[in-house]
Amino acid sequence: MNTIPLSSDGKTPMEVVRPLVLDAGQILLDWFDKDLKIERKGRADIVTNVDYEVEEFLLSRLRHAYPDFGILAEESGAGGESNAEYTWIVDPLDGTRNFSIGVPLFAVTLALARGDEVVLGVTYDPNRRELFTAERGSGAFLNDEPIRVSHGLDFDAAVIGTDMGYSDAMATYALQLLDRLWPGMQAIRIMGSAALGLAYAASGRLDLYFHHHLSPWDIAAGIVLAHEAGGVVTDRNGGPITLSTPNILLSNAALQAEFLRRTEGLPWRNATE
Ligand code: IPD
Ligand code: CA
Ligand code: CA
Repeated sequence: MNTIPLSSDGKTPMEVVRPLVLDAGQILLDWFDKDLKIERKGRADIVTNVDYEVEEFLLSRLRHAYPDFGILAEESGAGGESNAEYTWIVDPLDGTRNFSIGVPLFAVTLALARGDEVVLGVTYDPNRRELFTAERGSGAFLNDEPIRVSHGLDFDAAVIGTDMGYSDAMATYALQLLDRLWPGMQAIRIMGSAALGLAYAASGRLDLYFHHHLSPWDIAAGIVLAHEAGGVVTDRNGGPITLSTPNILLSNAALQAEFLRRTEGLPWRNATE
């Protein structure tokens, strides 16, 4: 396996990002429930001054540690070294809507990709001080304890997570899908943070998580967490997922197969918008 280079001060990527996301999480907590400057990016999609502040904080530390790496960040787009072998993928605040209304379900999430393969991912929930970490080939952890996807095999007993995302048409199909599935499951959780939804599915809290409209920074950490937690992470039709696949399905193999069986033919499975 290719070894990731050390940072400018001799640290491994995980040694760099662990304290970094904890510090970023503290900035989020310092701002939580305070007056925010809110801008609208779409009908339901917002960004706050805190998204920008935390992103700049993360990027300046990552650039300093790894001047030769590329960067893909939600608020500032592509940066760093172009044509770099490795790219940091950064979402400074996943769950901005929750954050802006005082709901304590949000996270900092970042990942490192070599080409299209995610080799490291971390998602940090500062409210619960929960740090989800994974490195390709080295397992997945929550606060250093190994995690696994759900052992559940019975779809009727499953707790399923999703989010509405920012495509109204696809969200309408997702609601139709839930209507089709209901009540053949235990419960639905609409999280408000896809990164936490994916981390919760990787750690077996949710039995399955699905989403139809995400970006690389929403899913990157979740992909490696899922792989390393023994999960199956695919696109909405069970096919391979890449960083630019907008839809995602994360579960164990049995529940994923059953989800695909029960949702066969629904518009959510093949509509483009
Ligand atoms: C959003 C959240 C939300 C999901 C959206 C994402 P943001 O990220 O993860 O749960 O439904 O699709 O874009 O905007 O809070 O970083
Ligand atoms: Ca996000
Ligand atoms: Ca964000």
